[in-house]
Amino acid sequence: MRRLKTGEPIPYDLLLLADEELQAIDRYIHQSDIYVVEMGNNIIGVCVLYPIDENTIEIKAIAVDEAYQNQGIGKRMLKDTAVKARKKGCRELIIGTPTTAEKQLAIYQKAGFEWFDVRKDFFISHYSAPIFENGVQLKDMAIMRKQLLL
Ligand code: ACO
Repeated sequence: MRRLKTGEPIPYDLLLLADEELQAIDRYIHQSDIYVVEMGNNIIGVCVLYPIDENTIEIKAIAVDEAYQNQGIGKRMLKDTAVKARKKGCRELIIGTPTTAEKQLAIYQKAGFEWFDVRKDFFISHYSAPIFENGVQLKDMAIMRKQLLL
């Protein structure tokens, strides 16, 4: 993963795989560090790190181009993120995902994240319209935490 340089276009197309609305992305993107993964000249992965305080970084978004999913890239990005956060002296990473998002919950748990909290009705109160995935309305956000040993 390399950090996106100032002035480079923000890969909104990829970010919209992870977040439903541009307005939601714009609430965190300008205060975050954006890391990307490239294949040739194309950006195929993105990971957005938002510093909550000196000890905690939230992964606000992680996404891999659909053509490259399920090939281990997401897992590798989570590992690299932990290394980068540790180097900055950060003690914990957090990541939020719908409580119904089976694949994401599985990946995060396999990467060492544990259930920590639930933000009730997050996807109802923070978005302009109801969001459905596989016919199920998204309501609550699971907050997962990975503690980093320095
Ligand atoms: N249920 C459980 N596990 C699953 C499922 C499923 N339905 N589908 C795949 N998996 C497992 C695979 O078996 C694999 O695990 P394994 O390596 O132990 O076999 C793992 O999920 C996939 O790992 P990767 O290949 O490393 O993941 P990928 O490169 O596809 O990246 C990501 C994962 C980022 C979630 C990607 O699929 C993506 O971009 N999805 C769309 C955007 C998204 O949902 N982003 C996260 C939103 S939350 C947030 O951004 C904070």
